[in-house]
Amino acid sequence: MSGSGETGPVVDWDALTRAARVAREHAYAPYSRFRVGAALLTHDGRVFTGTNVENASYGLCLCAERSAVAAAVTAGARDFEALVVVANGAEATSPCGMCRQVLHEFAPELPIQSRGVEGGLLKTNASELLPHAFQAADLASRRED
Ligand code: THU
Repeated sequence: MSGSGETGPVVDWDALTRAARVAREHAYAPYSRFRVGAALLTHDGRVFTGTNVENASYGLCLCAERSAVAAAVTAGARDFEALVVVANGAEATSPCGMCRQVLHEFAPELPIQSRGVEGGLLKTNASELLPHAFQAADLASRRED
């Protein structure tokens, strides 16, 4: 979220959910068949989307959330206001550990909504998902030993 103190855009969760669903249509998930879309609203009102991009070398799979973050940062947007994640699981699933760390880097209080296909809405935020996160302040506090 913005550190500027300015009021951010009103979050249109329905519009973000629609954008995440469109992104999910482009999922490249031939291995897991678990299709995920993410839509990230930035402080200046733009929406960046991402989807999961898998690889035959499984460890290289990129999650939808980190795809969306990369798209936003590439466009110069780093102040995040809200995130929607939609997947084709029955119930809502929340971001993986790696994505939690990446989201927390930019927006520790980021509100997040997740949805599956059979209803169920999970509302959370980045700090709730990753308490005691490792962060820049930890690096800054290092001592020579
Ligand atoms: N995946 C995401 O894109 N986001 C999540 O929050 C959880 C997992 C992707 C990674 C992989 O392509 C597939 O879902 C199965 O793990």
